[in-house]
Amino acid sequence: MALISSVADLSVEGNVAILTLNSPPVNALSALVRKSIHEGISLAIGNPAVDSIVLICDGKTFIAGADITEFGKPPSGVSLRELQDTIENSPKPVIAAIHGTALGGGLETALVCHYRIAVPSARCGLPEVNLGLLPGAGGTQRLPRIVGVAKALDMVTSGVHIKAREALEMGLLDELAEEGQLRSAAIAFARKVIAEKRPLIKVRDQNSKVEAARNKPDLFVEFRKANARKFRGFLAPEYNIRCIEAAVNLPFDEALQFERALFTELMNGVQSAAQRHYFFASRQVKNIPDVPADTPLIPVKKVGIIGAGTMGGGIAMNFLSAGIPVTIVETRQDALDRSLKTIRANYDNTAKKGRLSTADVERYMALLKGSLVLEDLADSDLVIEAIFENMGVKKEVFGKLDKIVRQGAILASNTSALDLNEIAAATTRPEAVVGLHFFSPANVMKLLEVVRGEKTSHSVIATAMQLAAKIGKIAVLVGVCPGFVGNRMLAQRQREANKLVLEGPMPWDVDRVLFDFGFPMGPFAMSDLAGLDLGWIKEKSSSSTLREILCELDRRGQKTGAGYYDYDEKRQARPSPVSEQLIRDFAQKKGKSARPVSDEEILQRCIYPMINEAAKILEEGIAIRASDIDVVWVNGYGWPVYRGGPTFYADSIGLDKVLAKMQEFQADYGDDFKPAKLLVDMVARGRKFSDL
Ligand code: CAA
Repeated sequence: MALISSVADLSVEGNVAILTLNSPPVNALSALVRKSIHEGISLAIGNPAVDSIVLICDGKTFIAGADITEFGKPPSGVSLRELQDTIENSPKPVIAAIHGTALGGGLETALVCHYRIAVPSARCGLPEVNLGLLPGAGGTQRLPRIVGVAKALDMVTSGVHIKAREALEMGLLDELAEEGQLRSAAIAFARKVIAEKRPLIKVRDQNSKVEAARNKPDLFVEFRKANARKFRGFLAPEYNIRCIEAAVNLPFDEALQFERALFTELMNGVQSAAQRHYFFASRQVKNIPDVPADTPLIPVKKVGIIGAGTMGGGIAMNFLSAGIPVTIVETRQDALDRSLKTIRANYDNTAKKGRLSTADVERYMALLKGSLVLEDLADSDLVIEAIFENMGVKKEVFGKLDKIVRQGAILASNTSALDLNEIAAATTRPEAVVGLHFFSPANVMKLLEVVRGEKTSHSVIATAMQLAAKIGKIAVLVGVCPGFVGNRMLAQRQREANKLVLEGPMPWDVDRVLFDFGFPMGPFAMSDLAGLDLGWIKEKSSSSTLREILCELDRRGQKTGAGYYDYDEKRQARPSPVSEQLIRDFAQKKGKSARPVSDEEILQRCIYPMINEAAKILEEGIAIRASDIDVVWVNGYGWPVYRGGPTFYADSIGLDKVLAKMQEFQADYGDDFKPAKLLVDMVARGRKFSDL
């Protein structure tokens, strides 16, 4: 056995050389890993006793890609391309032995090996698109040569991880090894290749599948059309498609140059920087500085939910789908029945779409119990209150829970805005109380704000964070303040949007600007969807806001066929002359006259106060780090990931510019635009959110 470096060793068994990488956590292709593979393969090629070479990894995975932490830094040492040339041109067969995930540059390395063997649990994919990139080491050229153009288009634009069995059927793998037996199976396979005098297969020379797609431009036209909505705003999917087109239409080396040029352009662009920022942000968010990783967790085997409304039902589904029994409590039988029916209908719908088996539906439903008495929650490990937002009622419920639910259980509130400390104070165990703020629809939306009260214990926080991952949510720990992180910032945008429509732009103008920025919809379309009567009380309505005026006229949003917009029978929105007139009349009543407002101002008026609020949130310690705020906005509100999140976006345009504009707006429109102290400080010191 020869140690090549701290991350690789080379051993020889009979006539097979085995090059083993061990570079935790994911054997990414750092400069040292590239150099070590290059050296190891070269040594094995030069060793006359060796007839074939196995490339295998220790640890939890095969090479999971390029080392993303090196992106943006000057290239150093052996390049991936040089390394690939050495492997591909080896006169001795090189066999990639895959476990875990062969992703990105990892799969591209496997694709220059002459053969690939994997265990059944392994997965392969080219997920660069999720980092705003394309596979820049020949992936877009070699993949379609094996799996064909249609499948390759799908893989590179979705980043999907393909299971080993499917990869075998597609020809991406040559053989499956028994689970746990990869090393011996790979060596045996290497001997077989030699004994059978199998050829040194170079994927680059396999042209039949790309030739089959030549002169068929419709393939690409159709693919773009079918995915236009999904790809909207993103550069990387389109660039990936162009590279596959090049694979079809250009000679290999020319297409490889093309791939390199497009890769470099993406790598130097702001979208990829944003998506890489998000990649690390979504991992960092799990680290809570004062809650050690070995904090004891509270086993959660039974969940109770209070309130069987849309929210309670949606929350229940998360736990049922994770195999955790749920008891849901309502005060009225008809409401309870309705909720259980809705949950089943939701599951049935998913089953109809083929995304769930009917056996699963039955299994989940068997875990669900309805009840009309709180006492049925006595032995729950976690109780989540999901009733309407009324402090008095919530305190009463928590007071009761305190007496009923066993000691050691977690008591959670799904409040989206109320003071969690006050709720916790209604119990004798405030350390057991936490906020679990789900987003609607709770069974779909990825975000979960875990709200930490003054007295919430470390175990409760750690359990909530871990449980969130178990039910497929991305949890962000936040502190107590009105609206927490997400809704507190949203309120800024909503306030400005509401003001803007009294100054000239119509709701559809504001919505268009935010849609073009990359949000799935603007604030007015969103209000219409949610229902304008959320929290509206008819008896107290006095035409004092636009929303009240619309509700009074029964324009309560999509459900009544009219809100800010008019809707046709298919719920397609169109600008409404009726609401336009109502808005103009209301503006006049308020003494506002219409003026031309540029799209740029609409965007800045809506977004900059959010950035300013993010600074206040950090100042007050409500969020742990700036990137956590970005995770909230990407997962809870559809902030386009190619813009990284509000704080990344602010950094990318320059905090000095944001501050100057806020000051200008403050002079023109008042203290809604008063800059946060932290924003002023950061600009004064030439710092960014990402430096905090
Ligand atoms: N480079 C550097 N670090 C990486 C990495 C990479 N490619 N992939 C993962 N890591 C790090 C993570 O940041 C994390 O670090 P911390 O523990 O310090 O937070 C650690 O490895 C573990 O990662 P996860 O928490 O994500 O672990 P997991 O087990 O849930 O998932 C994984 C493992 C599936 C490999 C996942 O990490 C992943 O999807 N990684 C990215 C894969 C990828 O995008 N590869 C393509 C890279 S671009 C490329 O290769 C370009 C090219 O064409 C040459």
